[in-house]
Amino acid sequence: LSLLPSCATKQEPLLEQRLLAEFVEAYPTASNPNGIVRSFDITAAEVELPLLDGKPLRVWAYNGQVPGPELRVRLGETVRVRFTNRLPQPTTIHWHGVRVPNDMDGVPTQSRPAIKPGESFVYEFTPKDAGTFWFHPHIRSSEQVERGLFGVLIVEDPAPPAYSRDVVWVVDDWLLGQDGQIVPAFNTRHDLAHDGRWGNHVTVNGRTNEVLALRPGERIRLRIVNVANGRVFAPDFGGLAAKIVAVDGLYVRTPFDASGFELAPGNRIDVDLMAGSAGAAISIEDRFLRSRPRRLAEIRVAGDPVETPRFEPPTRRTVPAWTAGSEVPVHAELALDARRGGPFGIEWTINGVAFQGHESATGHTGIPLVQGQFNHLRFANHSARLHPIHLHGMFFRVLTRNGRAVDEPFFRDTVLVHPRETVDVGVVPVDEGSWMLHCHILEHAEAGMMTMLEVG
Ligand code: C2O
Ligand code: CU
Repeated sequence: LSLLPSCATKQEPLLEQRLLAEFVEAYPTASNPNGIVRSFDITAAEVELPLLDGKPLRVWAYNGQVPGPELRVRLGETVRVRFTNRLPQPTTIHWHGVRVPNDMDGVPTQSRPAIKPGESFVYEFTPKDAGTFWFHPHIRSSEQVERGLFGVLIVEDPAPPAYSRDVVWVVDDWLLGQDGQIVPAFNTRHDLAHDGRWGNHVTVNGRTNEVLALRPGERIRLRIVNVANGRVFAPDFGGLAAKIVAVDGLYVRTPFDASGFELAPGNRIDVDLMAGSAGAAISIEDRFLRSRPRRLAEIRVAGDPVETPRFEPPTRRTVPAWTAGSEVPVHAELALDARRGGPFGIEWTINGVAFQGHESATGHTGIPLVQGQFNHLRFANHSARLHPIHLHGMFFRVLTRNGRAVDEPFFRDTVLVHPRETVDVGVVPVDEGSWMLHCHILEHAEAGMMTMLEVG
C-alpha cells in the first residue's frame, strides 16, 4: 500500500479549497426521508424458468424471476426489504450505487454476517440520490450473480421528466453447457486468467430475442444495467437518436451521444431515446468486441404516431470539471496485478495483497480516505486484463487516463481500467464508514481484487 504524503506547498490548499467548493452542491450529504415507507418481500431460491429462448433453465432467483423484481420508489421514500434466504448457501444483498448506511451495504462483516440458509433479514434505508441502481449478493458473487441473482432498484425524481415511457434493459451473458444448463464450474483458471466468465449467450431481460415495440414519435428513458460477471457491452443504437442523460444513476452535466459508451460490469446508463418515424426493425448491437458485434435486442417502430414529448433532457449542472484535481498529490495508488497461488491457482492483487476476507470483510487493513476532503486516487493496471473498479458508498470523477486529463461530464461508481492503463480519479467521500473497493469482474474480486476504503 503506497500512501504518498500530501506535501503542502503554498498553492495546494487553495486548489483543494476550490475543488471542494465545486463539489459542495454535487450530491447531498444526508437523505431527506418524507415518512413514506415502501415495503418489499424478497426471497432468494432455486427455481426453473423459461429464459433465453424459452427453454427451462435452472437458476437462482429473487422472487422466482430473472431479472429479479424491479423495485421502484420515489426520492425521499424509505425502502424496507424483508429478505429471506432459501438458497443452499449464505448470501447478502448489496445495493449497488446506493449510498446506504454502512451496515446496510450487504458486505459481510463480523458484526453483520451473511444471511444463512433459512434465515431472514430486513434491509432498510432512504436513498439520497435519484437514479438507476441495482442489487445483488456480495458473497460468492461470481457464482450467485451468474446463477441469476440480480434486480434493479429505481429511485425516481420527485418530479420525473415527461418521457413517453421508462424502460429497463438488464444486459447479461450466460455460459451454458451441452445440456443447456448453467456450467457449474465457477472461478475456473481460464476465467481467472482472462476477463472473468464470459458466456455463450447474451440476454436482455433474460431473453435472447428481446423486442421493444415503440410507436413513432415516442421518446423513452431507456435504463441499461450491466449485470454480467465479466462482459463489457458497448451498445450501438443503429442510427436512432440516443443520448446518455445519466451514468451510474446520476444525471450528467451535458448529455452526449450514447454510441460507443463502454458499459462495464456494474455500470448503468440512462438513455434519452427517440423512436423516430415508423420503419423497419432496428437491431441494437453490442460492439465492444469490434470484430464480433452481437445482437442485443431489436427496436420496432410501428403503429399510429404519438406526439413527441418536448423538454430539455435532465442534467446535473453541478458536476465539477475537476481536471485541475490531477495536480493534487496522489493520496493512494492502487497497483492492480495477478500472480500464481491462492485457492484458485491465480490471485488478483491490489498493491500485492489478495483480499482474504470474502466471508467477512473485518480485519483487513483498508485505505484511509479523508471525509469531506478531495482525495486523489490512482488505479495502475499492471496486468493485461480489464478491471472495472467499483467503489461502494461514493461517486467519483475520472481525472486522467494514462496521464492525459479527461473531463467526463459525469460521476461514476465504476470505471473500466484497460490493460496497462493508469486511471486517476477524484472523490469527496461524504458518507462515513468502511466501504469496499473492488474489481467488478466477479471472478477477479473472488480471487482477491478487493480492498476497503475507510472514511472517517
Ligand atoms: Cu455491484 Cu461490490 O458491487
Ligand atoms: Cu479485474
